[in-house]
Amino acid sequence: MAKAIVVYGSTTGNTEFLAEVIVSGLKEGGLEVVTKNVSETKVSEVANYDVVVLGCSTWGEGELQDDFIDFYEKMKDLSLAGKKAAVFGPGDKESYPDTFCKAVDLLKEKLKKCGAEIVAESFKIDGEVEKAIEDANAWALRIAKSI
Ligand SMILES: Cc1cc2nc3c(=O)[nH]c(=O)nc-3n(C[C@H](O)[C@H](O)[C@H](O)COP(=O)(O)O)c2cc1C
Repeated sequence: MAKAIVVYGSTTGNTEFLAEVIVSGLKEGGLEVVTKNVSETKVSEVANYDVVVLGCSTWGEGELQDDFIDFYEKMKDLSLAGKKAAVFGPGDKESYPDTFCKAVDLLKEKLKKCGAEIVAESFKIDGEVEKAIEDANAWALRIAKSI
């Protein structure tokens, strides 16, 4: 059974909420899944999994959620060759049209630089995360099917 890790960074709980939905979708799709808050995750840990899913909200003007900053910087020494990856995150298009979910794009580019294969289009959630449960589940199932 392929092993996946979902690492999330969340200030007000929205990304954490989505992470829980995505974890259950990945499990439903047949993956063995571990979920961790980025603040309690060593960068080197993620290399132990076949699938790496990162979830991060965007703060400031297009910046990573605070807890993700250190992790992101340490990813420069990480090799994810042969691993599959995908990124999700909530944002607010109306208030931040120019930097909507920018953190998701930053992480996707970083994963590519680490050598990971991006297996799903990034999942960007605008506004209330509770309305995105079905979409989040479907996104997770698509990832599981692609493994
Ligand atoms: C001060 C502030 C800055 C924000 N900046 C952005 C931004 O640049 N782009 C964006 O898409 N959303 C932005 N947001 C919206 C958050 O990403 C959104 O509320 C998200 O759901 C928070 O998720 P979290 O609780 O997991 O941290 C901002 C919100 C606040 C309060």
